[in-house]
Amino acid sequence: MSHADDQTGTRRDFLYYATAGAGAVAAGAAVWPLVNQMNPSADTRALASIMVDVSGVEVGTQITVKWRGKPVFVRRRNQADIDLARSVALTDLVDTNAENANIDASAQAEDKNRTLDEAGEWLVMMGVCTHLGCVPLGDAGDFGGWFCPCHGSHYDSAGRIRKGPAPRNLPVPVAKFENETTIKLG
Ligand code: FES
Repeated sequence: MSHADDQTGTRRDFLYYATAGAGAVAAGAAVWPLVNQMNPSADTRALASIMVDVSGVEVGTQITVKWRGKPVFVRRRNQADIDLARSVALTDLVDTNAENANIDASAQAEDKNRTLDEAGEWLVMMGVCTHLGCVPLGDAGDFGGWFCPCHGSHYDSAGRIRKGPAPRNLPVPVAKFENETTIKLG
């Protein structure tokens, strides 16, 4: 994946295809539905597990990969994101379940139960609003995380629903670090 066209100093969403030979095709989660329609065959090529190269993901940025026909956000959080998420009391959450497929189903939604690493830098989750399935926008909303413009759901910097009609936190799929720069989904 090339980052030659990165603009410095801005926080961006990059859309990547996890299929062979494809690179970054667009910036911004909002363009997903259009790109998706233009590439119907991508669904049929979706694999059970994919490897995501995160070597080019800078702190404070996010990439979006397509996995099993759906967008997955891979965010490398900065310290402010982490501190903000960890300062939230469970009692302030709409959904107190971690919604994390990698840990016990009854685990609570503390920030440490949402991230891939102990330091809390890497947050991987489905980019699908738990209300009616739109793709939330990054770096948006009232809680320093994501905002779903379809009906106004606000997610915090741990992807937990904080305001609006969505009932659940953005789910964390089965994921793990395969090595220092590769995350395996599925
Ligand atoms: S689909 Fe996201 S708020 Fe309705």
